[in-house]
Amino acid sequence: MQAHERGFFTEENSVEVVTGRNINAKDARLRAVMDVIIRKLHEAVKEIEPTQDEWFQAIQFLTAVGHKCDDWRQEFILLSDVLGVSMLVDAINNRKPSGASESTVLGPFHVADAPELPMGANICLDQKGEDMVIHGHIRDVDGRPIAGATLDVWQANDEGFYDVQQKGIQPDFNLRGLFRTGPDGSYWFRAVKPKYYPIPHDGPVGQLLAALGRHPNRPAHLHFILRADGCQPLITHIFDPDDPYISSDAVFGVKKSLLANFKRTNDPERAYELGFGGEFWDVEYDFVLAPARAGKGLA
Ligand code: BEZ
Ligand code: FE
Repeated sequence: MQAHERGFFTEENSVEVVTGRNINAKDARLRAVMDVIIRKLHEAVKEIEPTQDEWFQAIQFLTAVGHKCDDWRQEFILLSDVLGVSMLVDAINNRKPSGASESTVLGPFHVADAPELPMGANICLDQKGEDMVIHGHIRDVDGRPIAGATLDVWQANDEGFYDVQQKGIQPDFNLRGLFRTGPDGSYWFRAVKPKYYPIPHDGPVGQLLAALGRHPNRPAHLHFILRADGCQPLITHIFDPDDPYISSDAVFGVKKSLLANFKRTNDPERAYELGFGGEFWDVEYDFVLAPARAGKGLA
């Protein structure tokens, strides 16, 4: 009988000894997951060869991440975001058929009960920022317009803050709304140009970013959740390609297909029709929803 079969631990057989202890796990998936994690973790420790102090520092870091969490702040999700794990899990779970719009991270600032607004409404409730109109179509992968699709939108303001970060400063539900497409699948609404902003970085994840010489910023974007009968829900953003952080998003959420054209427009007649005072930003972006997966209900 070899040492690992007797349960005796050595540096060499560490993986076999530890994973061998899990053979009576009731849940096969849990056992498989833990086996991989143990194998990869031991591999990392063997490669890094941490000192006792370094290992304790790692434990203290994870402890601080936990302590930073409350009902509103989820520091572990932020850690997953800045390590690229959130985007990887998103990519694995949202492989789309050719032509369908791509997904990206949800982020912590979605509010479930944003008001449903008439098409064309201005979601900017405090008249602060540069006017912007956003419009396009929602179609299926065969190019057919989708009627009755809902488009839940939220964005930061011209200073890079969401309403929920500035309670009492911004009106509630500022820069949020739910729109529903008509028969031609088109949508449009008015807003203001969003600005880049830092992810919450006053905690251990922010310290980690600083220690790694990384900035905490996300390039300017609008968030969307699109839903339609018979289609997979789509959680995504559109981004301003001219943003200074477009190639270094702190959470790796940018995809080429999600770059929209933010066109500065000087058209007094159209500005008048839109109720804008002067120049404005014109953003056109079409979404394509993938068909619902067999056996999966609507989310
Ligand atoms: C956001 O875009 O709202 C976001 C995403 C990930 C982390 C923090 C914020
Ligand atoms: Fe955001």
